[in-house]
Amino acid sequence: MSHAEDHEGTRRDFLYYATAGAGAVTAGAAIWPLVNQMNPSADVQALSSIIVDVSGVEVGTQLTVMYLGKPVFIRRRTEKEIEEGRAVKMEELVDTNSENANKPGTDADDINRTLDDAGEWLVMMGVCTHLGCVPLGNNSGDFDGWFCPCHGSHYDTAGRIRKGPAPRNLPIPLAEFTDATTIKLG
Ligand code: FES
Repeated sequence: MSHAEDHEGTRRDFLYYATAGAGAVTAGAAIWPLVNQMNPSADVQALSSIIVDVSGVEVGTQLTVMYLGKPVFIRRRTEKEIEEGRAVKMEELVDTNSENANKPGTDADDINRTLDDAGEWLVMMGVCTHLGCVPLGNNSGDFDGWFCPCHGSHYDTAGRIRKGPAPRNLPIPLAEFTDATTIKLG
């Protein structure tokens, strides 16, 4: 290789890397606005979680709140409802997944469906998993829980599908107690 060729080669390499470098910067500049758009803005983030005061919810009653445009049932279960829910065996269930966003991958045992270990608080989407109607609560249906009259789906006291065309348990959204009487959804 002559000195001239060597120099030429070095210059080509320089140009190559310079171009590649500029390309990388351009790509970075192009990607950033896209990534930035994908980060939810503060107002969207605020909408994606809500705070619910449950201090007025008596045992044996249900509060329904709207969350992301859908009803969420917050039920304070009675001792009888807890006992009924806990007596159910896995083989009796249609859907053996807890469908609980707070406990992904767990089975549908009653304890995996409730927000507290004592099993008093059940928080779930009030949307039938068949075609999306809002089931009736307050010990409705054949299993003392919720009943969707649209096509006859019966849910038990833990919101698990027991009879009818609905394929899955009522889903449980992300939720937590932030203090003794406040639940944060999302
Ligand atoms: S929508 Fe509930 S049973 Fe069909």
